Amino acid sequence: MAITLFLSSGNLIADRRYDFGRDLQLRGDLNGAADLMTQAAELEPNFASAWFSLGDLREQLGERDAAIIAYRRARDADPDDRHGAKLRLMRLGEGTLSEMPPGYVRALFDQYAPKFEKTLLSDLDYCGPEILLKAVLVARHAAKRPAHFKRALDLGCGTGLAARQFASLADEFIGIDLSAGMIGRARATGLYARLDVADMLKGLRAEPADSTDLILAADAVVYVGDLAPLMAEAARVLKAHGLVAFTVETHDGEGFILGPSLRYAHSAEYLRKTISAAKLKDCAIAPASTRIEAGDPVPGLVVTATK
Ligand SMILES: C[S@@+](CC[C@H](N)C(=O)[O-])C[C@H]1O[C@@H](n2cnc3c(N)ncnc32)[C@H](O)[C@@H]1O
Repeated sequence: MAITLFLSSGNLIADRRYDFGRDLQLRGDLNGAADLMTQAAELEPNFASAWFSLGDLREQLGERDAAIIAYRRARDADPDDRHGAKLRLMRLGEGTLSEMPPGYVRALFDQYAPKFEKTLLSDLDYCGPEILLKAVLVARHAAKRPAHFKRALDLGCGTGLAARQFASLADEFIGIDLSAGMIGRARATGLYARLDVADMLKGLRAEPADSTDLILAADAVVYVGDLAPLMAEAARVLKAHGLVAFTVETHDGEGFILGPSLRYAHSAEYLRKTISAAKLKDCAIAPASTRIEAGDPVPGLVVTATK
């Protein structure tokens, strides 16, 4: 997902310096690029893209303290933090581990939407929806219940790949996603009765209690750190015997971490505790990788639980 966000400074000269800096960076001249980004940021002190690139360059040059200063300037220059400077700061150990800036997720996926399916399916062998389908069938079989659902919520629905996979199993699909660009693609599938551009937790909170048979999240809670509020809402919104199913990236330590890919990874123990605290039952957790990155499967889990 190598997409570089550019927000113009509104000053042609500063923007040109930024462009030259990017050219030098792509050619491997990191010091030359850092000089140009510094000049761009001096010309326009609120030039978030220049500060963010400077932070990235300083990090690559091993200059941690200077990287932190530049990322802070990038974060402060853009109230929505569309570059995700806060995530870079968290990775550098600055500030406590907390949620992603919604503006970052929105900007990332709005930019990504036109090429999302090609990149994920062809380049990364993405199979999140297939993994979820198998897990849901297994869970329903174990519960001796039909794998048919009247109302299904697709959290972080993206372009609608999960609804395509589950189309024959659900009468009505509702999709929730932060990115209007992704929602636009999901709408074009014609598979959703309703689509909301919203944060998944806020979207769930707006759903009536005991209203839903299935809640899915394919490769979406990797953008959510603390899953406790989400699981509590899922338990409220599900009907009795309703099912929640989602994929995560995982790690061997405790709790959840922000990985180098800037996605969260949740430990199996954390998931079990969180699901149990939400009073969901029949928690099943199995290893499952949704994608290949740099030639290797990304360690992951598929999780199901019932109300
Ligand atoms: C990797 S895509 C997966 C999309 C889809 N579920 C699939 O399997 O193809 C992750 C999606 O989650 C959405 N997302 C991330 N964080 C979110 C949040 N807090 N609330 C709603 N959507 C979110 C992103 O906008 C993006 O569309």
